[in-house]
Amino acid sequence: MIKTVKDVDLKGKRIIMRVDFNVPMKDGVVQDDTRIMAALPTIKYILEQGPRSLVLMSHLGDPAKDVKKAAEKAEKAGKTFTEADKEKFINGKNRMAPVAAYLESKLGQKVVFAADALGQKAAVDALPEGGVMMLENTRFHKEETSKDAAERDKMAQELATYGDIFVNDAFGTAHRDHASTASIAKFMKTEPVGGFLMEKEVKYLEPMLHNPPKPQVAIIGGAKVSSKIAVLESLLKNASALVIGGGMAYTFLKAQGHSVGKSLVEDDFIDTAKKLLADAQVKGVKILLPVDHVAAAEFSPDATPVAVDGVCIPDNLMAMDVGPKTIEEYKKVISTAKSVVWNGPVGVFEFDAFAKGTETVARLVAEATGNGAMTVVGGGDSVAAVNKFHLADKMSHVSTGGGASLEFLEGKTLPGIAILATK
Ligand code: 3PG
Repeated sequence: MIKTVKDVDLKGKRIIMRVDFNVPMKDGVVQDDTRIMAALPTIKYILEQGPRSLVLMSHLGDPAKDVKKAAEKAEKAGKTFTEADKEKFINGKNRMAPVAAYLESKLGQKVVFAADALGQKAAVDALPEGGVMMLENTRFHKEETSKDAAERDKMAQELATYGDIFVNDAFGTAHRDHASTASIAKFMKTEPVGGFLMEKEVKYLEPMLHNPPKPQVAIIGGAKVSSKIAVLESLLKNASALVIGGGMAYTFLKAQGHSVGKSLVEDDFIDTAKKLLADAQVKGVKILLPVDHVAAAEFSPDATPVAVDGVCIPDNLMAMDVGPKTIEEYKKVISTAKSVVWNGPVGVFEFDAFAKGTETVARLVAEATGNGAMTVVGGGDSVAAVNKFHLADKMSHVSTGGGASLEFLEGKTLPGIAILATK
């Protein structure tokens, strides 16, 4: 079990805390505050303990990637990509000031904004007793994400001077080995601890991986097998049933010899799919692939839905959602589950005409929670789905991590968790 802020004496201490405030922004306005609200309990708890100061740090977006993309686009168009462009389109878009202001409004306490993540030691020392500071986007410094550990260490060493205790509550970024998520731990004089969000994420995700209440049903969807193969293999260990839905299901159906029409298929992964199906059979894990579909002639929100009452899909159609018979099969396994882990939608739920399968899965998982099952939803798209259908509060836990929850369920060690003290 990780140690948390409750296991250390925070009174009079300077706290440096990593949060994941990588929230969707539009024109400088926070579009979804889930991650900010999820960190608030830890922030408030720390402040109630009477610390000397609290410095918060986070990344926002991926500025380096944005710069690269915009520069390439400019080059293609024969235009010069200037420093002014960089500021306007890249750094401007990823500035943390609006997030700091948003936090201030929710916290009801002044949040001092530092316009650079580095060079703030004097400003931190000058904070009033119990003062809160939010640093500018850590990724504006290339050292934050550098592959060179020495470069990361250089930045981490400076960040470490802002606090006596490092608190990591950034579960969403725990899979990144970055200066502010992991390297910083080396330079702290006290043991790093987690926040309540980190504790909750681990509390729900760990049993899903190692010792789930059984029978466990794993629902894995999404477009590509390639990005989900590791999690499928990992969940095969404990699951009684594996529901494979979404675009990736069609690579499996093709591997079984069915015709899949124009559906998305990763031909390079047919053999991998065959192997996984064989492994599941050896382990006695029931695999649920779609047995009927809602298809369309083209990938469009306005496409006419066509019911395909069987496994095989005509050549002129692509599958967009699962059909009613498949949903009946889902019902049977989910209703008897004692735990459910769900990552990835089973259809193109963003288009209303093809949302029924995913909506029903969300409802079935919510019902399972009501019947006492432990239910965990992870991954950006399935979280978006439970939010769309207003069912987030009907799940035992909805993870704030996309990549992080996936890597956790794959059984990988997450650097931002590995550095935390345990008890
Ligand atoms: C996320 O949104 O998944 C995390 O904040 C990590 O962001 P990243 O994928 O840009 O590292």
